[in-house]
Amino acid sequence: MLTIGFVGAGTVGTALALSLPSEKYKVLAVYSRTPSSAQRLAQLVPDCQYCQTAQKVADAAELVFITTPDDVISKIASEIDWHKGQGVLHCSGAYSIDILEPARQCYANVGSIHPLQTFASINEAVKNLPGSTFALEADEPLLSRLKELASALNGRYVELKPGNKVLYHTAAVFVSNYLVTLIKLALDLWQDFGVSANEATKSLLPLLKGTVNNIENIGLPNCLTGPIARGDLGTIDKHLNALKAINSPSFTTYQELGLQTISIALAKGKIDDDRAEELKTLLKGQDTK
Ligand SMILES: NC(=O)c1ccc[n+]([C@@H]2O[C@H](COP(=O)([O-])OP(=O)(O)OC[C@H]3O[C@@H](n4cnc5c(N)ncnc54)[C@H](OP(=O)(O)O)[C@@H]3O)[C@@H](O)[C@H]2O)c1
Repeated sequence: MLTIGFVGAGTVGTALALSLPSEKYKVLAVYSRTPSSAQRLAQLVPDCQYCQTAQKVADAAELVFITTPDDVISKIASEIDWHKGQGVLHCSGAYSIDILEPARQCYANVGSIHPLQTFASINEAVKNLPGSTFALEADEPLLSRLKELASALNGRYVELKPGNKVLYHTAAVFVSNYLVTLIKLALDLWQDFGVSANEATKSLLPLLKGTVNNIENIGLPNCLTGPIARGDLGTIDKHLNALKAINSPSFTTYQELGLQTISIALAKGKIDDDRAEELKTLLKGQDTK
């Protein structure tokens, strides 16, 4: 049984604490900047104690997760007297384990485990976590422990080198955060023809889910449908004109995403190089004649 502590009782810390299987992991200590955050986590996990300092968590647990905002991880790591051989983790997707250098200097084993999942609320995160990928960075023996931990959370893992982390996290931003932005842009257009955001969301969700199903079951590039996949210049021209007519702030996003979509359509084989050039010219706003 591995003893676990958390410094930072926010969404990720609490969702992980609730998801770790109790037969293998004993979450026994938690500290957070605001006592009520730590107390909430402590109440949700049987036999978990709320601590008044981060040091008490480090003194109690074999493996400590620092699940605070990225900007304070390094400072917290430097303020604690870590124990030799103890495991110290962060969950940031963009930072390498270098920010845990102060813990390494105390001869702790440092690592990072980034859940490639969106933690918008504790309840939803607990539901979404099984099946997620965890990006791991650590040396042995901690690396093996992290692989076991990912499996215990019913997840899979990838090992990342420090130099790869920022691009890895940028990719996650595209898939998760900017998908939210795309939905927002679509909802704004529905507002323009008088449908509430709530109704528009309900209407667009089956399309979104169908697209995700096609990505999963058909894969790129064949999952791409729509006017660029078909090479329908006239339809795209109509879209551009309609966005221009309402002075939509999504005009340039439509252009840029359209340009990025042409290579997928080419790979699918439904358009040829000539049609791809025509699409590029149209989307760049150049004269097609
Ligand atoms: N959100 C996601 O989708 C997601 C996904 C993957 C990884 N991550 C990573 O997970 C980590 C935590 O993110 P999160 O979304 O859980 O953030 P969060 O919900 O904001 O939680 C952070 C927690 O840390 C506490 N805290 C702040 N400063 C502190 C300090 N100096 N000492 C102790 N506790 C402090 C916060 O304050 P209070 O005690 O005042 O409540 C809060 O409870 C980050 O490294 C993030 O990059 C996030």
